[in-house]
Amino acid sequence: MNYRIDFAVLSEQKNDCRFGLTLHNLSEQDLADWSLHFIMDRFIQPDSVSNGELHQVGSFCSLTPKQAVLPANGHYYCEFRIKTAPFRFYSDGIKEAFVQLNHAEATVRYDVAVTPIVLASPYQERSEIPQTLQAELCLIPKPNRIERLSGSYLLATTSQITLQSTQAEQAAMWLQQELKSLYEFEPQPIGNADIVYQINPILDEEHYQLTVTSHGVLLEASSHVGFVHASATLLQLVQRTQSGLIIPCVKVTDAPRFKYRGMMLDCARHFHPVERVERLINQLAHYKFNTFHWHLTDDEGWRIEIKSLPQLTNIGAWRGVDKEIGPQFSTAADQHGGYYTQEEIKRVIAFAQVRGITVIPEIDIPGHCRAAIRSLSEWLLDTEDRSEYRSIQNYNDNVLSPALPATYRFLDLVLEEVAELFPSQFIHIGADEVPDGVWINSPKCQALMDEHGYQDAKELQGHLLRYVEKKLRSLGKRMVGWEEAQHGNKVSKDTVIYSWLSEQAALDCAKQGFDVILQPGQYTYLDIVQDYAPEEPGVAWAGVTPLERAYGYEPLAEVPADHPIRKRILGMQSALWCELINDQSRMDYMLYPRLTALAEAGWTQSALRDWTDYLARLKGHLPLLDKQGIHYRAPWK
Ligand code: ACM
Repeated sequence: MNYRIDFAVLSEQKNDCRFGLTLHNLSEQDLADWSLHFIMDRFIQPDSVSNGELHQVGSFCSLTPKQAVLPANGHYYCEFRIKTAPFRFYSDGIKEAFVQLNHAEATVRYDVAVTPIVLASPYQERSEIPQTLQAELCLIPKPNRIERLSGSYLLATTSQITLQSTQAEQAAMWLQQELKSLYEFEPQPIGNADIVYQINPILDEEHYQLTVTSHGVLLEASSHVGFVHASATLLQLVQRTQSGLIIPCVKVTDAPRFKYRGMMLDCARHFHPVERVERLINQLAHYKFNTFHWHLTDDEGWRIEIKSLPQLTNIGAWRGVDKEIGPQFSTAADQHGGYYTQEEIKRVIAFAQVRGITVIPEIDIPGHCRAAIRSLSEWLLDTEDRSEYRSIQNYNDNVLSPALPATYRFLDLVLEEVAELFPSQFIHIGADEVPDGVWINSPKCQALMDEHGYQDAKELQGHLLRYVEKKLRSLGKRMVGWEEAQHGNKVSKDTVIYSWLSEQAALDCAKQGFDVILQPGQYTYLDIVQDYAPEEPGVAWAGVTPLERAYGYEPLAEVPADHPIRKRILGMQSALWCELINDQSRMDYMLYPRLTALAEAGWTQSALRDWTDYLARLKGHLPLLDKQGIHYRAPWK
């Protein structure tokens, strides 16, 4: 490449760091009328930039230099400040860049190579995973009761799957598909009835029993999802030996610890194709998750087709230099985007249902709405609003106005289609990270506050969310939202709260009578870096989450097991935010093996969980990940 950026930390203090950026012109040509554009997700103090003027929208920075000509074989240099904790990882640096020639006749763009940031003080420590021997039975999550019987069952070419309950049909179909794709094994349509699905009405909904003897396999449950869990356990027991595929004889009696065991995937920051989404959902079934939370809208992209408002995806699903929504996070000089049609969404929901997984959609409001606002500005933009704010992700124009009638028309249309499309009882409405300062200089918002006697602009958030809660109730749905959903104190206790900043919000909300789901960033956010080495990819706002830390997560550990508040904990969830995740390989690397550790936190009773024991099972489990082509982070290097 003819252009290169070197970027270095010049000085760092607790919350104020200074950086130097050098752009080299390695070509034989002088550049005139040029500007530099790059991706940096922290907010650069605009008045701190030496030798140029910077305009930043989200993570997209445009720098107009004071130096009109960038000479051939010369360079440009500037410095700036970011009010941030010290950088420790290369992921913290500039991600991509291009130089633009702003000639009157045509705009020309040249890619710029970016060398890794020169860090001032990367961490020296590294997390260590003890060497361990592989367990004999490598089940994750660990079943709550498992007895090893002597001998094993040989999967024979005459083996046949027999259903004694129609409720087992889909689970059996899934088992068959997975046996084929993982072990190239195909049971016979007619043969010995030695893999039997049988209803057992004594078992509760997600409970199952699995009995393997030398003669065959018995899978017992009382529900579809119970049969899926039994199948998942069976799939992890299969071993390839010289005599063929065998299953060790066992008796498993198992049930989940938490009723809700979820995984959230952000498909807004980067669009993930349907196949990638389904691949993940399939894997979730292997680990006995029962909920897939689909983050479908955000500032940087609207990913769900709304038939009555096609602008949302015509405009809001695409970003790029010449688009309504500029580049963010990656692909600086190219277009990025995509969305799911309602037909595709129906297929994903059906795919998940076969695997015992409920899909909860998230439409994130009233913050995180930049893509929607720019797509439907004639409806959603309060043109008289002079409020000044900056969201965590550096936007000053990403919040819906509770004072515009069209906001409610927009919400009605979207929620009606969403409620129709998703069978899930829960609809997630986000509600996170509405920035301070929003709405306060809007005459319309002021009038709405006066009308209702609201003292604090936060009450406007409650006003809007109460409307949404009622709307969803009228559609037969229950509103769920991030911990900020109860800000403004207006939503009812029917709303389920997902805590994410810490566990404290969950505790406070549970005390007030809300049902809660725990998703603390410090343990369950799998976009967080997994070790201390500077090349480790990921974000670090909540620290570093090595495998051991993720494994050790125990929801509200300090609340005694018999405390009534525990009844308010519906369960827990992991999350993958995708600002930095744009392909399968990076997704796998961030998810695995930590997702398996968190699956165990949701499923297995705490008394049975043990780090060393988990590692011994993980060791024998890794070949199954290899078989699926999962690019996990190797725990043992
Ligand atoms: C969140 O991480 N903003 C819920």
